[in-house]
Amino acid sequence: MVQAVLFEVEDNVAVLTIKSPPVNALSHAVRSGIVDGLDRALGDDDVKAVVLIGGGRTFPAGADIREFGHPVQDPWLPEVCNRLEMASKPVVAAVHGTALGGGFEVVLAAHYRIADKDARFGLPEVTLGILPGAGGTQRAPRLAGAKFALDMMLTGRPVPVTAPGAKVFFDAVVDGDLRKEAVAFAQNLISEGKGPRRTRDQRIGFEDPHAYQNEVTNRYRMVARQQEYAPEQIIRCVEAAALLPFDQGLAFERSSFQDCLETSQSAALRHAFFAERRAGKFPELKTGQARELNTIGVIGAGGLAASVAVICLQEGWHVVAATTTVRAAEHAASEISKLLGGAVMRKHMTQTEADEALARFTTASDLVALSEADMILDCTIRPPSAKRDVFTQLDAIAKEGAVLVDAGAHSKVNLLAQATGAPGDVVALHLYAPLRISKVAEIVPGGNTSEDTVATVISFLRKLDKFPVRAKNEQIGPRILAAYRLAADYIVEAGGTPYLVDQAMRGFGMNLGPYQALDYEGFEASLSAQGSACRASHQPDFVGRLQAAGRNGARSGKGFYLYEGKPASVQQDPEVIELIRAYREENGIDPRGFSEEAIRYRCLAAMANEGARLLREGVARRPSDIDTVMIHAFGFPRWQGGPMKAADNAGLLHMKVELERFAREEPKFWTPDRIFDHLAKNGKVFDDLNTQ
Ligand code: CAA
Repeated sequence: MVQAVLFEVEDNVAVLTIKSPPVNALSHAVRSGIVDGLDRALGDDDVKAVVLIGGGRTFPAGADIREFGHPVQDPWLPEVCNRLEMASKPVVAAVHGTALGGGFEVVLAAHYRIADKDARFGLPEVTLGILPGAGGTQRAPRLAGAKFALDMMLTGRPVPVTAPGAKVFFDAVVDGDLRKEAVAFAQNLISEGKGPRRTRDQRIGFEDPHAYQNEVTNRYRMVARQQEYAPEQIIRCVEAAALLPFDQGLAFERSSFQDCLETSQSAALRHAFFAERRAGKFPELKTGQARELNTIGVIGAGGLAASVAVICLQEGWHVVAATTTVRAAEHAASEISKLLGGAVMRKHMTQTEADEALARFTTASDLVALSEADMILDCTIRPPSAKRDVFTQLDAIAKEGAVLVDAGAHSKVNLLAQATGAPGDVVALHLYAPLRISKVAEIVPGGNTSEDTVATVISFLRKLDKFPVRAKNEQIGPRILAAYRLAADYIVEAGGTPYLVDQAMRGFGMNLGPYQALDYEGFEASLSAQGSACRASHQPDFVGRLQAAGRNGARSGKGFYLYEGKPASVQQDPEVIELIRAYREENGIDPRGFSEEAIRYRCLAAMANEGARLLREGVARRPSDIDTVMIHAFGFPRWQGGPMKAADNAGLLHMKVELERFAREEPKFWTPDRIFDHLAKNGKVFDDLNTQ
């Protein structure tokens, strides 16, 4: 069996190298290996100091998340950290890559810490619905105070070792051979007679108790309205760090960690973590080779084209933006330079970076300018026949091997592929707005799309920090969104108010309620994009009544809400209630009431049912792919795990029975897909379909 921790002695220094690819997660084998190596080092009179270092690409990136939810095998990570800290010989942690979560807690427990200049560290447990459970909440504030420690723990963001404030954790940041530097550092300690320096004894972070407590109080206030459980527990632990003796603080942390771990929120967040990674496992990656990308071509003068051009420029690619008229080309150029200016203003990039980006950018009023592009994204929305014409033109213009992408996403990719002589190079891609923020994109390969083309698009998306999700023939997100909105419309049509629906769904954790979202998108844009994406025999049309009354969404000043003043104050409007009441009356609908609970259940059931249909039709490969899309494209609460995970939690048998009950009102839409029956009969849930 390969050893998870390698023990070597180099000039009186024991070097423990963790070798557990890919990210050296602190599995049972690694934890045991560290403890065994430490015991061996402490028992060897020739060893005077210990260096702990990660092999491969990183220092441990955390506890092994796959072990959560299973009985813990000794030694626990807190015990490993305590043993390191209490060691009688100095222990030096040498950090490269990303020391995250439990990995950084090991670093904090070491007596001395040195890091490679490109290393990053952090405590991202909150993103998994838990808290640092191996002493991190007690040790980090002892060194860095409440502000820095809470920033790390509440945002979960990794921090570069060179960032302001990071110095408190590291004795040296080095550029060169980390292992060599770490051994030299340890030898220095030996020659200077320096022994262990235990973080548990440090109080530098508590120097200003008032500032510490103020920070804690402010953070309680900031998380008070959040629905997530872990953030408040993190603050409690950091508060306890300053109030309790170290060992009691550790015990408090341990019990809070256990509480967090047992929540359904944590289970959902861990599901989301693995769902995002699973989504990127495309069969094409087994043999497909990503082609090199230097120049990206973008077709279109609209918002999508401009955003695509800007994120590609920010990534360092050359971009050619091509349109078909001089006017459109000028418009595209001005939009792109406006967006870059905005990015500088918002400090997403410096002025120098924006200038360099502009220097890599050209615009043209003729598609011929795209002849040097390695990938061309058509970001226009036009009728299929016009799209085909564009792809036929591109076939003649594009260089050999250029990947041709339909990013307008309303055409059938196979039709476009047939319009070219290289169907293997053609693929569709569905990007979500706002492009800079949304972390997901759907790749829709055609029947002949080559493995290299898919691999190239995946590599393109990864560079843009987006999770690729595979879809077949059509996109996943719009179908689920349409089902969600239709369920909401049925509720409003039957007697609920849009305001109650919004409130209920915000209570579920959605960023915005469906009607707020519709207001911000604008009725026209949103309704034309939505069409009748899901099966239903009737579509309520009270939105049409609102439009007829001059309401078109937030930009027009009136939608479901009133937007008055600058900045706009958003208010409910009795006129909307009246318009909907009149609509019901004309349609002979006797209104009935809905509880928030019932609204949430119907909306979730509609999404899960549409998800089940997408799975059966083969549009989506796995339930967890649907979850990833909904979390990152439409603000579905990550801590609910996505609609399919949330449906599992709600109970599939119960959901099937409820769907059957709703189906008496609208059979075509509500009748449960037969997957519900199949899973329920076999005692299974959607998660059981989440194969690699
Ligand atoms: N446990 C188990 N597996 C992990 C893992 C972890 N902590 N971190 C990453 N992996 C796995 C991923 O699932 C993936 O596996 P597959 O190849 O089978 O899909 C593989 O390692 C590579 O991961 P990525 O694809 O994410 O690689 P990346 O280079 O894009 O990112 C990373 C690397 C920044 C370390 C990222 O994986 C990451 O953020 N990991 C999670 C870090 C984290 O949350 N740590 C805290 C854990 S909880 C904890 O430590 C609790 C505690 O206090 C005791």
